[in-house]
Amino acid sequence: MPGIALVGTQWGDEGKGKVTHLMADAMDMVVRYQGGNNAGHTVIVGSETFKLHLLPAGILYPHITPVVGPGVVIDPSVLLEEMDALQARGISPERLRISGNAHLIMPYHRELDMLTERRLGKMKLGTTRRGIGPAYADKAARIGIRVQDLLDPKIFTEKLEVVLREKNLILTKIYGRLPIAADTILEEYLGYADRMESHITDTVAEVHAALDAGRNVLFEGAQGTLLDLDYGTYPFVTSSNPVAGGVCTGAGVGPRAIDRIIGVTKAYTTRVGEGPFPTEDLGPDGELMVDRGAEYGATTGRKRRCGWFDAVVVRYAARLNSLTEIFLTKLDVLSAFDAIRVCVGYEYEGRTYESFPPHQTIFHKAVPVYEEAPGWRTEIGEARTWADLPKAAQSYVERLEKLAGVPITQISVGAEATETVNRLAAAAPRSARV
Ligand code: IMO
Ligand code: MG
Repeated sequence: MPGIALVGTQWGDEGKGKVTHLMADAMDMVVRYQGGNNAGHTVIVGSETFKLHLLPAGILYPHITPVVGPGVVIDPSVLLEEMDALQARGISPERLRISGNAHLIMPYHRELDMLTERRLGKMKLGTTRRGIGPAYADKAARIGIRVQDLLDPKIFTEKLEVVLREKNLILTKIYGRLPIAADTILEEYLGYADRMESHITDTVAEVHAALDAGRNVLFEGAQGTLLDLDYGTYPFVTSSNPVAGGVCTGAGVGPRAIDRIIGVTKAYTTRVGEGPFPTEDLGPDGELMVDRGAEYGATTGRKRRCGWFDAVVVRYAARLNSLTEIFLTKLDVLSAFDAIRVCVGYEYEGRTYESFPPHQTIFHKAVPVYEEAPGWRTEIGEARTWADLPKAAQSYVERLEKLAGVPITQISVGAEATETVNRLAAAAPRSARV
């Protein structure tokens, strides 16, 4: 059962970094399949904290081959900076494999991301301004520049000159900015090429070789289902497909290569950036979640919007991803509440919606229907088995599981890897599983 996908089921920041860390021992290869350095994965290994944006968390473990797949967009300056930073901390990035088919984030992508956000004003998306959207847009428009182009300076120059003609018109005529000179980019990017060359490879072949040899391959998602370009809260989404289906296109494997699909789900809900969020709590409850959950973005440092668990969202994600299980994170954050609410449906114009509404307007104006249950009011960071959890916490987890329709197999009760309740631990044949 070697292919495992790890996906976020909400708006990102569900704690995917911690889950990768917990699974790392059993993995041989960890593959990023979409997104770019808009991600922020915090991994705590012993006394050290790592914040990774572009590299798969698998890079932290010497026995793992870390792979950046074709579906990722790569900002080479960030890539090399992240590799250098790891090297400086004694972690070798030598094993890193980078797909030659992945698209490059270029300086004009970053600039256009910033300028479009500014132009949109009140209508802005709240992007991470890393150039993600403009890079994927060029890929779809077939004017993108790929990693493999770095290895052929003639082709790279030709493609760059063609695309710069258009970008410079946009920059100068629409935004009143200075044009970007091809020479400046050429010098910068061809310099990166030298450093990246030994890592660039046919990652699809390597992933298949690993799967064929029965090795464990983890496909590490970035962002989350509700940020998916096709299934999220469009246009307040990212420009790639974080859903499990994105593993196929982004890593180059068919659906049968994926044996388990683990949804990472926060015990409440958060979102960074703009866009609808029915259970958002702007009062003291939301503030308490920010404080106890340290809800500040790992990439942009922005304070995350917080609110109660939205079962409509998670049930939708369970379906879209064909989840086989859920890893529930940050349950300990809820220990401070007297009463805990769960959104089980939405009301809009006299109708109740128990599944994700078909029209965005309904989602925008949805009034959550809440169930409320008493909290447990005691810290749970020491819990390691199901029996260690207070009855009220157990009931909460069981309720979420029923609403999501997917077994919750593990529960995180603190940031450290050890602060985890493994419900499978007691069940003999599955205990080898993470
Ligand atoms: P991880 O992997 C949370 C959000 C941005 C913005 C929208 C579009 O840490 O879960 P983009 O720069 O991608 O064009 O921005 O998507 N966003 C994330 N929010 N976690 C992330 O990644 C995110 N990556 C992008 O805040 O609302
Ligand atoms: Mg994040």
